[in-house]
Amino acid sequence: MKHFEIPPYSNYSFNLIQNSDFEKLALFRRDYDIMLALDKEVETDEEILSLIDQMHSPDSINNSLWWFIYLDNVLIGNFGLKLDRRNARAEIGYVLFKAYWKIGHMSNCLPILLDFAFNNLGCHSLEARINPLNIGSKKLLLANNFVLEGSFKEDYFYKGNFLDTQVYSLLIQNHVPRETIQFKK
Ligand SMILES: CC(C)(COP(=O)(O)OP(=O)(O)OC[C@H]1O[C@@H](n2cnc3c(N)ncnc32)[C@H](O)[C@@H]1OP(=O)(O)O)[C@@H](O)C(=O)NCCC(=O)NCCS
Repeated sequence: MKHFEIPPYSNYSFNLIQNSDFEKLALFRRDYDIMLALDKEVETDEEILSLIDQMHSPDSINNSLWWFIYLDNVLIGNFGLKLDRRNARAEIGYVLFKAYWKIGHMSNCLPILLDFAFNNLGCHSLEARINPLNIGSKKLLLANNFVLEGSFKEDYFYKGNFLDTQVYSLLIQNHVPRETIQFKK
């Protein structure tokens, strides 16, 4: 799996999620604040196992590659992508534990995932699907040159309500390499 290793950067390091990482992944998928922000219910063991199964076959045609994010060796979040190799496209995702929100960590880390997707995985375009009310996520995408490509009205059912979805995308030619992005402390 060496070719899926993301090198450490500053105080951050990254570990590809493996089949044996059930307990660590469960810390996120059972976390109320994170799952509420994702408009999802906290997950059962079966759901977490099924998710980890999708992450565990990184050599198949379409797959999910996900990494844990560590700050000074402390687990703070995860990010990754679901690849559509046929179209050199991927859908990205990212989460942090609530204690680490809004202090610049994902602004620092997301460009690392974007660089990896374009430079190492051969992606031509990336997309992110968000709830328009998720301001942090929207700001993060716009800061990384994603543009709004489409909006769907009430296409997502959660806790008795139909919610809207926005799809943002980034083409390779509009990607700004990480070296030119200012690092947040
Ligand atoms: C979304 C998330 C990854 C953002 O990461 P983060 O490290 O908190 O974001 P940053 O601190 O780098 O902030 C990026 C920008 O968004 C702003 N921001 C972050 N959270 C915000 C919030 N809740 N409300 C308003 N603005 C917010 C920051 O002020 C910053 O703005 P600036 O660039 O003008 O200074 C994080 O909040 C999170 O894990 N949320 C739960 C999971 C989630 O929603 N994932 C995305 C699903 S689409």
